[in-house]
Amino acid sequence: MSKANMLVAAVIAASAFLAADAQAEQTSISKQALDVTGPATTLQTLAEAKPVTAPHAMVVTAQHLATQVGVNILKQGGNAVDAAVAVGYALAVVHPCCGNIGGGGFMVIHLASGKNLFLDFREKAPLKATPTMFQDAQGNVVPGLSTKSFLAVGVPGTVMGLNAALKKYGTMTLQQVMAPAIALAKDGYVLQQGDIKILDTRNKDFAEHPNVAAIFLDHGQPYKVGDKLVQPQLARTLELIAKDGSKVFYKGPIARAVVAASEQNGGLLTMKDFADYSVAWSKPVSCEYRGYEVISSPPPSSGGTTVCEILQIIKPYPFAKWGYGSVEATHYLAEAERFAFADRNTYLGDPAFVKNPIAQLLSPQHAAWIRARIKPDAATPSSKVKGSLGGTEGQHTTHYSVVDAKGNAVSVTYTINFLFGVGQIAGDTGFFLNDEMDDFTSKPGVPNAFGLVQGRIDEVRPGKRPLSSMTPTVVLRKGKLFMVTGSPGGSTIISTTMESIINVVDFGMNMQQAVDAPRMHQQWLPDLVMVEPGYLTPATQAALEKMGYTFKMVHAWGADEAILRNSKTHLLEGANDDRRTSGLAAGY
Ligand code: GLY
Repeated sequence: MSKANMLVAAVIAASAFLAADAQAEQTSISKQALDVTGPATTLQTLAEAKPVTAPHAMVVTAQHLATQVGVNILKQGGNAVDAAVAVGYALAVVHPCCGNIGGGGFMVIHLASGKNLFLDFREKAPLKATPTMFQDAQGNVVPGLSTKSFLAVGVPGTVMGLNAALKKYGTMTLQQVMAPAIALAKDGYVLQQGDIKILDTRNKDFAEHPNVAAIFLDHGQPYKVGDKLVQPQLARTLELIAKDGSKVFYKGPIARAVVAASEQNGGLLTMKDFADYSVAWSKPVSCEYRGYEVISSPPPSSGGTTVCEILQIIKPYPFAKWGYGSVEATHYLAEAERFAFADRNTYLGDPAFVKNPIAQLLSPQHAAWIRARIKPDAATPSSKVKGSLGGTEGQHTTHYSVVDAKGNAVSVTYTINFLFGVGQIAGDTGFFLNDEMDDFTSKPGVPNAFGLVQGRIDEVRPGKRPLSSMTPTVVLRKGKLFMVTGSPGGSTIISTTMESIINVVDFGMNMQQAVDAPRMHQQWLPDLVMVEPGYLTPATQAALEKMGYTFKMVHAWGADEAILRNSKTHLLEGANDDRRTSGLAAGY
């Protein structure tokens, strides 16, 4: 069967299953931790799904106005880094659930010269933080402490990260790239259905805090489609940053406002936490997959290492022959993810605090060792899978992709963790603070909001960065840009990003099909496979259940905003994930 026919066959079968799955169940991953997504993937039209194409440059983000900001910067002569920084600040205004200056993230840069870079601007734990800060006197985890209290807030890194990227690789001034964000905050923007859907998830929480309600509710009532959201406080904060740079955020009035709010609400943040904050440049993690080079995020992200480990495990298997959504492809993907997530949760952490055995995890020997343990006809119970190197101690986020006319590419994922983070704003700063501390291990063996069961390797320590799953990624072919990809979605970011790659490389999908196609996800614990409606046909599901699999249907997750350079047409293909209806791919 040709690749196109296989896809169509899968789509038709999947559509039938979609109808049978009206009662999608939720997984054990907390509801608030899951992303807000658009309608169930448009399976009926997946075969016809086409990306936006452009010959020179492309920007794809989860909010259409931020995409336009990026395209305008490129048209004004800015490079991909200028556009990425402008988009980062614009999303903080027009996608306040996720775009942020109150959180942190990662940036992967591929320069047309061939150089690849990684920028870590992940939040850090306050200096007064302790490994047991989310437990009571009896050692039990206190629900909500790591997600809804001021103890949940890590020292934000986004402002220093964006400014550092601009200074090193941009060509424009901070004032130039921040001007569109400031205008959007000051003048406001009209809310569309996609924006309202996200705001609606936390209207009740907005009402709890007068300074939040004053901005994100309309005289106490939820905003409606067509209303204008004006954010004068955020505009003022952005103006201060544009004028004085990072120091106003880390040593000036913004730090003081956040510290004051933290002190008033039982948090731990101090001025020293802000003054000591730093971002870090390093080499991305990379691996080969079927002739492509995957360039991705190293620790404190687990994303790149885990994606690469999964790809190394599945490399010898004939995925193209098996086909998308087949019993074989699903089985071997689920098994590879199970083993790779067990390693993730056991061995990875902030490199400033732990030694990450990346070379071992990505070695051919390790992949072969895992393959030898995968049975062709049965699921491996997760209880039988341990971190496989032997003993050792131990929808919120948003992704965007930019490619400029010179072939520079920037892949950014940044987050405040839950949608609208901790749900609180310090004084009149106008931006939501993160609840990233939940990504640490509150207690070894106790799942976090994403159901991740992590060990002491990711325990809270003063000044440490929590282990992340964010996976901004660039894929090269023969040293040249091939794809820019990444997603929100907590632990599911890893499988979503990996699937966007294999959907193109193995299953022959175009960029739009690759991000729209229904997904699957296995993360070791809990021992189940999450699937979106339409991923499995009834026959495939029955065959896999016979092999020992348990499935949980989840409506939809992630929002992969991706770009591909089509090697035949030489056009850029931009794809806004159809689950994120507020987003847009645009180029020129
Ligand atoms: N806050 C989700 C992550 O960084 O993985």
